[in-house]
Amino acid sequence: MASKLTPFAFRSGPRALRQLQQTQWRAFGFTAAPRSDSLNVHRDSPVNNASIPFKFTPQNNELIKEILSRYPSQYKKAAVMPILDLGQRQHGFTSISVMNEVARLLEMPPMRVYEVASFYTMYNRNPVGRFHVQVCTTTPCMLRDSDAVMKAVEDHLGIHHGQTTKDGLFTFTEVECLGACANAPMVQINDDYYEDLTYDSTVALLKALQYAAEATGAKPGETGLGGEAGKGAVTGKDRNVKSGNEINEQGRSYEAGGVKVPTPGPLSGRKSCEPAGGLTSLTSEPWGNETLRKDGAL
Ligand code: FES
Repeated sequence: MASKLTPFAFRSGPRALRQLQQTQWRAFGFTAAPRSDSLNVHRDSPVNNASIPFKFTPQNNELIKEILSRYPSQYKKAAVMPILDLGQRQHGFTSISVMNEVARLLEMPPMRVYEVASFYTMYNRNPVGRFHVQVCTTTPCMLRDSDAVMKAVEDHLGIHHGQTTKDGLFTFTEVECLGACANAPMVQINDDYYEDLTYDSTVALLKALQYAAEATGAKPGETGLGGEAGKGAVTGKDRNVKSGNEINEQGRSYEAGGVKVPTPGPLSGRKSCEPAGGLTSLTSEPWGNETLRKDGAL
């Protein structure tokens, strides 16, 4: 018996001693607790409360039918994200009434819809301006001077991150990586990406949007330039107008209300995400039967 207990005593003795020596308390943390509750708390306001009715338009109801047809009928709640997005596009933001209507349509408990809408930051649960300016400040953008872009927005619009201009035209938000790091620094305005920005090109872009919004006189509640004027950016009907104004010399633009507005994409003259300084490799004719582009564009 003693011979069996001896190895056990040898193993467990030092282990118990080690545990005694370990500290049994944790240091206090001094990191400031995040106090922002904007992402997960709803507060009733005159423009956002459950007594404001919301119904999808007949056109959007057709779209909802099409979206629902992609899912088995017993899993229609899987369509919650695209239908919330549709609600946001129709109403301008994802209000509590939009969320309740989506819950009713999808036969979900409203709380399940609130959970989705409050988890994803792309659902704006408070009203935003006609142009929602989202500046990326994650590392690749920061290394290529997103600070200058932030400063340009602050200087020109006179608002800080999280605020909307008094005329309701611009809302300014600082966001994490938007996946266009090769063209950093960049900004997303509504659905469009503007890339390779500098302080000056950011100010020129904001000015162009301001002038175009005034010139086209879009109605309250519309996003972007509204009506026909906004379609240049959405449908790519830009005319490659030669720019003689403060928009950069090589940049493409489209006209809205007689004002030249930069076409979404790089504002540096780059066409896409090709090397900014020209090709540095693969510059000679390949030895296979492939050929290089002859137009010298790349
Ligand atoms: S870091 Fe800005 S787009 Fe990726």
